[in-house]
Amino acid sequence: MKGDYGTFMQKEIFEQPESVFNTMRGRLDFETESLRLGGIQANVVAIRRAKRILFIACGTSHHSALAVRALFEEAWEKPVFVEIASDFIDRKPPIFRDDVCVFISQSGETADTLNALRYCKDHDALCIGVVNAVGSCIARETHCGVHLNAGPEISVASTKAFTSQVVALTMIALLVGQSLALFQDRSRAIIKDLHMLPDIIRKVLAMNEQILTIAKECSKQQSILLLGRGGQYAAVLEGALKIKELAYIHAEGIHAGDVKYGPMALVNQARCIIFLALRDSHFNRTKAALAQIADCGAKPVVLCSIGDRAELSPFASSVLELPIVDEALQSVTSVIALQLLAFHIGVLRDNAVDTPRNLAKSVTVE
Ligand code: UD1
Ligand code: F6R
Repeated sequence: MKGDYGTFMQKEIFEQPESVFNTMRGRLDFETESLRLGGIQANVVAIRRAKRILFIACGTSHHSALAVRALFEEAWEKPVFVEIASDFIDRKPPIFRDDVCVFISQSGETADTLNALRYCKDHDALCIGVVNAVGSCIARETHCGVHLNAGPEISVASTKAFTSQVVALTMIALLVGQSLALFQDRSRAIIKDLHMLPDIIRKVLAMNEQILTIAKECSKQQSILLLGRGGQYAAVLEGALKIKELAYIHAEGIHAGDVKYGPMALVNQARCIIFLALRDSHFNRTKAALAQIADCGAKPVVLCSIGDRAELSPFASSVLELPIVDEALQSVTSVIALQLLAFHIGVLRDNAVDTPRNLAKSVTVE
């Protein structure tokens, strides 16, 4: 049921305060700061002892893995890899019994992810699912896992699954990091912000009208570049995917540190650029990249953290200030803003946002 919303996509974007809360419900006790993921609790020690973690997924689910990779590296201090499932099964790379392979999927039915899971199981790795659909193939075939509990996602383009995946994966990282003394203060800070997350998301959703104004400008474009680094690299990839699917406009997410190695040739006054410059540990380098593209004549739309408008305005055509949240969760706020942007551009261009052309909700063929 769409309720008061015109489309499932809009409904699913706006229910994210509740869906992320449901991902944490009964698992994270904010008063005692204790965390229990029933689905993987028995395997936490095995995960901590593993030599590598590999995240394997497609599309939006692949982007959620990219969004949490740095946190796993910090919490676990061992190698973490993020794989596109189709490329993984093309290569069939070496997988060992002391690897942990995490399969992320909203539907739990994506053929490429499922094939990768079967390959890793054949190689005796511990296979963990992070899946929304209970009873789906990936949920059944993994050794153990965590359900997202985000509720059904009807719109073909994935929205609330992304934010619940980031939250579920963040909780797994916190569990894994419990054995690392140096990580404990950081863990407490993240739990505090997980507690606030539904309210933080409500603040982003309240920016809907501002985002609609930006969408009106973007809807006339033929191509949009999105730039970001750190956790915001995952966000620009996800934003570009949403714009392609919903707006049918060419959109490309580019690492802000990589732009000088070629993409800079595309940058000029006329180019539509969305630049994610949230306050994180990469902020000074992000600002330097922003200044470089401004030197080439670009005037991007800048998404930044509250308080940074004055500092970044000289480089921007417009600035959108997002609520402050721990760096580990920043992809949640920026991706929701980009989901709204893509949704509005799609509607302004009269596209069927719930059912983009040529796409299916679950891709059950290779
Ligand atoms: C489970 C119950 C939940 C109940 C709670 C009470 C289900 C689906 N969940 O939640 O209704 O309120 O206990 O303690 O019945 N799994 C996989 N692969 C996946 C996802 C999950 O193997 O991709 C397995 C888990 O290892 C676990 C089971 O499915 O054995 C349920 O997982 P999950 O719903 O995440 O567990 P709980 O949060 O404990
Ligand atoms: C993007 C989108 C797809 C899915 C991909 C994986 O909006 O919906 O890119 O993310 O098909 O699907 P799941 O997560 O079901 O494995």
